[in-house]
Amino acid sequence: MSAPQPVLSVRGVTKAYHDRPVLEGVDLDVAEHQVVVLIGASGSGKSTLLRCVDLLEDVDEGQILLDGRDISDPRIDADEARQAMGMVFQSFNLFPHMTALANVALAPRVVHGSSRRDAEDRGRELLSRVALSSHADSYPDKLSGGQQQRVAIARALAYEPRLLLLDEITSALDPELVGEVLTLVGELAAAGRTIVMATHEMAFAREVADTVCFLDGGRIVESGPAAEVLTTPREDRTRQFLQRFTAGR
Ligand SMILES: Nc1ncnc2c1ncn2[C@@H]1O[C@H](COP(=O)(O)OP(=O)(O)OP(=O)(O)O)[C@@H](O)[C@H]1O
Ligand SMILES: [Mg+2]
Repeated sequence: MSAPQPVLSVRGVTKAYHDRPVLEGVDLDVAEHQVVVLIGASGSGKSTLLRCVDLLEDVDEGQILLDGRDISDPRIDADEARQAMGMVFQSFNLFPHMTALANVALAPRVVHGSSRRDAEDRGRELLSRVALSSHADSYPDKLSGGQQQRVAIARALAYEPRLLLLDEITSALDPELVGEVLTLVGELAAAGRTIVMATHEMAFAREVADTVCFLDGGRIVESGPAAEVLTTPREDRTRQFLQRFTAGR
């Protein structure tokens, strides 16, 4: 029996900024329900890879396939393709003048043309999934960083995306707030979400990731089961990164 088609296939992707290569031939397959964690030093290309997948950046060469469809084809409507993905950034990017509920309900209203009533019902359902029902009417500045990030995750779930892309979503949080956001990501993973996540939270990666990819200089130098890559890496560069990383904590 042939393997099922991956949700995401990154094939030979290269990307340069001003002639400086940032991604140099990245290949990555993500199967449905899989959690893939990207690790690597600052500047190794993790965010660029996620941004290329979300079509926020054009790739120079290679392809991005979502459920087998080449969404990096310039003839494709990027806005439409992007709706199958939910991306969350380090900075929460909530609209400050809108309540938590309005932030979550905005896209269903504007993009899908849902009625206000339907969009709000959906928004409340999404907020309850991230345990923030009681904060529906709060403005972002009245929410903690962890709560704001959970609102951003609720917003990313608005279209039941095929793929969640999470870029260092706990890096801007006070340490005591990191746990609640990682717990939510763990719950989403356990519920079967397909996730690609850049993070420096190695303990979380070990616990939740199916696959860990170590990036260095725009290449995936090593990838494999989390326990193997994080505990007994094959490559010297991975070992050096993990040692430096542990030493720096
Ligand atoms: N818009 C841009 N214009 C020019 N160079 C960029 C741009 N975005 C990223 N780069 C460069 O590309 C390289 C990879 O950056 P990227 O943000 O993907 O790294 P990262 O692995 O996410 O790092 P970090 O852990 O600090 O988030 C860096 O050298 C960065 O300076
Ligand atoms: Mg980054």
